[in-house]
Amino acid sequence: MKIMHVSAECYPIAKVGGLADVVGALPKYQNQLGATSNVVMPLYDNAFTRKHEFNSVYESQISLGNDEITYSVLKLAKSVLDFEVYFIDIKGLLFKDYVYSADDTDRFLAFQIATLDWILTLSDKPEFIHCHDHHTGLIPFMTQECYKYETLNKIPIITTIHNAQYQGWMTYDHLFKIPEFNIEKIGLLDWNGVINPLASAIKCAWRITTVSPSYMEELKSEANGLESLLSQESAKAIGILNGIDSGVWNPETDNYIVENYKISTVEKGKKSNKKWLCSEFNLDESKPLFAFIGRLVGEKGAELLPEVFSKVLETNDVSILLLGSGFKDTEAKLLALKAKYEGSYNTFIGYDEKLSHIIYAGADFLLMPSRVEPCGLNQMYSLRYGTVPVVRSIGGLKDTIIDIEDNGFGICHDSVTIDDIVTAIKKASNFYNNKLAFKKNRKRIMSIDHSWEVSANAYINLYKSIN
Ligand code: ADP
Ligand code: GLC
Repeated sequence: MKIMHVSAECYPIAKVGGLADVVGALPKYQNQLGATSNVVMPLYDNAFTRKHEFNSVYESQISLGNDEITYSVLKLAKSVLDFEVYFIDIKGLLFKDYVYSADDTDRFLAFQIATLDWILTLSDKPEFIHCHDHHTGLIPFMTQECYKYETLNKIPIITTIHNAQYQGWMTYDHLFKIPEFNIEKIGLLDWNGVINPLASAIKCAWRITTVSPSYMEELKSEANGLESLLSQESAKAIGILNGIDSGVWNPETDNYIVENYKISTVEKGKKSNKKWLCSEFNLDESKPLFAFIGRLVGEKGAELLPEVFSKVLETNDVSILLLGSGFKDTEAKLLALKAKYEGSYNTFIGYDEKLSHIIYAGADFLLMPSRVEPCGLNQMYSLRYGTVPVVRSIGGLKDTIIDIEDNGFGICHDSVTIDDIVTAIKKASNFYNNKLAFKKNRKRIMSIDHSWEVSANAYINLYKSIN
């Protein structure tokens, strides 16, 4: 079975969030199941690109409206991953020192057209094309409806929605950039008066998946305008929970963390990592350490955190550490709290992969007060590192975390309000003080298996079900 994943991100090559983690792991696990699963993605001007050498495997030109664009397809000179990655290199357009920006419409249109243009030339074509998010949302339409790609129209296209908040909206004047665009087909591209690549993928892909079963259900009533479309297309839609790459996220072998540990040595291992964090960030290691790692955006409930932290720190004996970046206003408020709560609160604004691993290892609790969480990987990483997730029960968080009061192992709250989050933190704090139960729970959560094996197989079965 030959599968080609098409994505804007792939760990460790280019990562903004969980999409990269998924595309960096799923092909590896599919290959372990006997498939030949590879990735095609843009070449960016980033640290990974500077560190590696590439060979060109194909070069050609595409039209993007009135512009003729030269592109190359590159491969790593020496493979460093467990699957092949093909890079679409378009100088001046895709090759930038960022993944996403304001000029994404043309960038990802060109990426999709070049990807199909190249696949068209392959003698050994993929049997399935698996697209991820709206950046690849026009591929199902183009393979089905553009005469130029007629020879690809028997290849089933699967689109995975990692986040329906972002849909890639573009104005109608971009239509002439789609190869051999036929105006009669406009209904397969637009939704609510605008060209909508994610909506187009939902209409045209052979199968639609979301990254958790609960998120699929939630989208039918709340999907940023796509609710009725998803309900309409529900016969071809299914939610498959993400897994985690248990090779990368393993406290026993993780090179980033301060001291490695396994279930039998968890107390000692976590203590060393916590000690390092507390000394680095001037926090009191005798208190329970609550952490947040993530994008500081509305979906993650981030703008409530400054007030939540103030309330908690006024009355509770806890330490808090935040790693993230996003809304400038939230960043400023989080930074401003540092002086007031010196010794029990700190924040690192930015992106730091190594630090994130040490936080998963050293924290006692991980906060995820998400408004929307299609799957969420942080909570699964934190389980594997013996860190108790404190989550709002929504989407993938609902599918993976059970509250301690329901014989579970995490702390759950129902809504995203300051009071609810503060109450959940207090409940977690009390749980921490019940030392025996807390330690027992650490071992329990570390043994929960969320590795990709099961879900990689679910995707293979999904492909097989298409005839
Ligand atoms: P999303 O993709 O919505 O941001 P996920 O939970 O699926 O959320 O995945 C987030 C991924 O990004 C995780 O691997 C998390 O550790 C990582 N991450 C988020 N913010 C940061 C940061 N500031 N520094 C390091 N890693 C981060
Ligand atoms: C998106 C979602 C997140 C999910 C990730 C990987 O970024 O916001 O919940 O875990 O994709 O599928």
